[in-house]
Amino acid sequence: MPKALLLENIHPFAAQSLREHGFQVETLPGALGEDELIEALDGVDLLGIRSKTTVSAKVIDARPTLTAVGCFCIGTNQIDLAHAGSHGIAVFNAPYSNTRSVVELVVCDIICLMRRIPAHTHHMRHGLWDKSATGSHEVRGKTLGIVGYGNIGSQLSVVAEALGMHVVFYDVEEKLAMGNAQRMPNLQSLLEISDAVTIHVDGRRSNTGFFGEDQFSQMKQGAIFINISRGFVADLGALKEHLDSGHLSGAAVDVFPVEPKKSGDPFITALADEDNMILTPHIGGSTLEAQEAIGHFVTQRLLEYWDQGSTMLSVNLPQITLKSCVSGARITHLHANLPGKLADVNQVLRKAGINVTAQSLGTQDELGYVVTDVSTRPDAASLEELRRITGTIRMRVIG
Ligand code: NAI
Repeated sequence: MPKALLLENIHPFAAQSLREHGFQVETLPGALGEDELIEALDGVDLLGIRSKTTVSAKVIDARPTLTAVGCFCIGTNQIDLAHAGSHGIAVFNAPYSNTRSVVELVVCDIICLMRRIPAHTHHMRHGLWDKSATGSHEVRGKTLGIVGYGNIGSQLSVVAEALGMHVVFYDVEEKLAMGNAQRMPNLQSLLEISDAVTIHVDGRRSNTGFFGEDQFSQMKQGAIFINISRGFVADLGALKEHLDSGHLSGAAVDVFPVEPKKSGDPFITALADEDNMILTPHIGGSTLEAQEAIGHFVTQRLLEYWDQGSTMLSVNLPQITLKSCVSGARITHLHANLPGKLADVNQVLRKAGINVTAQSLGTQDELGYVVTDVSTRPDAASLEELRRITGTIRMRVIG
């Protein structure tokens, strides 16, 4: 019976689904340290983790027969991806499952800031009744500037237009504009006309500090600023100065340059004193709906890899999307990306008189992946020959 180990309170759907698929599943509520993890992985085929479990080179070296790791979260920094790939361990994550949750928080931030809800709440808590409309606005007809028009930015664009906002966006890549959104030729032109600026860029190194004093200075008088992407992209000191001076009328920040390791840890920020400020502890994607969607998405990827060899959306192996193998058997062959490997596989099969019914090859960086459907299952000697092909990392026979 294949074994799965699920750590860190992964959504119960994962365990249920894997059990229904014939897996013996062990679940643990917390993360495990390196040595504990190595011990717990004895005989385990599939590992499920979230962000707190580190799968280091040492863990991989100690348990090289692990088949796949599912990160039931967005990030995969906690895994040595290259090392996992070089041992034929596929890694999957859930890059899109919390997109809607992030979008909803941004919409909430925009409306709350434009109505000065944080400031009103602060006054009420301190016994002050201020019924004034000064500085409060509808979002309808205002211009939203989206910086980074990827999964989140483009979905936000659609929802913001439904609220009656004009959407402009800037992306370093050519992106299809959704609805009536307008692409801006550069960041400055977006900043000069936007009533709200929201950052949704990815975590590439070059984005470190990319939104600083120069960019805040270019924003419209009275505009609001939102960063829910990565903590290192915006200079929070510069943001504070622009709030204190009255240049910007409010801000929402969900991500910080240095964040506590776990819930319950103390956290201090100089932005806490600002009047019209929403501070949230990196919860942009944290909803029960997103957790459930992540549970479904990653479990599906793990099972498709287990059952069919499909590496669709794997973060470390060449991606091949496959239909089910209808007859005979399927051979998956992961190897070093060297010339002639496909021919080597086919030569072994030809010698054994085995007919190839379908075949796909994908390569990525150091790795090549060939999936071959054959009319009959090769005998033990032919399988051994396939395994012995120079550069072979891992071979599996499915079906
Ligand atoms: P994505 O990769 O789909 O989109 C990012 C877009 O930003 C791409 O279109 C890219 O071309 C563009 N981009 C990169 N650098 C840029 C720059 N300097 N100027 C303009 N455009 C630039 O990413 P996705 O899924 O939309 O996520 C966006 C961000 O949100 C990521 O940083 C992600 O880590 C973060 N995030 C935060 C969450 C939270 O809880 N606060 C939850 C989920 C995602």
